[in-house]
Amino acid sequence: MLLPTVIGHRGAAASAPENTLAGLRRAAELGARMVEFDVKLSRDGVPILMHDDRLERTTTGRGPVRDHDLAALETLDAGAWFSPDFGGEPIPTLARALALCRQLGLAVNIEIKPCSGRDVETAEAALRQARAVWREGPPPLVSSFKRRSLAAAGRVAPDWPRGLLLDRRRDDWREAATALDAATVHVADHLADAESLRAYRAAGLPVVVYTVNEPRRAQALLALGAAAVITDAPDRVLGAGDQAAKSRPAKLPPAR
Ligand code: G3P
Ligand code: MG
Repeated sequence: MLLPTVIGHRGAAASAPENTLAGLRRAAELGARMVEFDVKLSRDGVPILMHDDRLERTTTGRGPVRDHDLAALETLDAGAWFSPDFGGEPIPTLARALALCRQLGLAVNIEIKPCSGRDVETAEAALRQARAVWREGPPPLVSSFKRRSLAAAGRVAPDWPRGLLLDRRRDDWREAATALDAATVHVADHLADAESLRAYRAAGLPVVVYTVNEPRRAQALLALGAAAVITDAPDRVLGAGDQAAKSRPAKLPPAR
């Protein structure tokens, strides 16, 4: 698959509620060709789009996500907190989100974001559901901070590329990337200096940097050799004048 240089974060989180179908549509409207979103499980084991372990910040619900079955989660409003314009927006299942991305022609980065203790079952359920929906064409890129989740994803979908997420400096990234057969490394912006980008690239790993909302920073990272940036504002970053970078998308190696 080709990795576009600009990836919408949680859809297009600056202008639509994160991890919703409206957010995916907005990302496509803003010109993104790829979106990232977070996946965890309902109590009854259904993969849904949600970032936080608890419901309060982004929905009308209360309490831990893991204490609610899908039927209850589907009654909640996941858009009104962002703006009344998005009132009534539901929490989507992964299956619905992926079906919409296919309709919209969006490539996908599925981030496995398990609730505590559910690393393996979240990845297994998400990959099984994703494979049932995404039957042909370049597969989604599956990323996680949780190495047990990435390993489980690799067992269910060995041919789908995996991205190792890093939010702090770790000396063992090279060993982990090798052990997990990672296709990419996804690093927090504060870790993305010239030296570390060089090291990741020297290890054969295209680097995805999150979350980059300033066009000039995005341009600088792409110039330093980052393969892509994940941004809340794809329109702003796409408009940053990085035409050169856009016209030479990084080739993502097939999962081995
Ligand atoms: O996948 C990149 C980024 O989304 C990781 O951090 O907390 O926004 O899911 P977070
Ligand atoms: Mg994420």
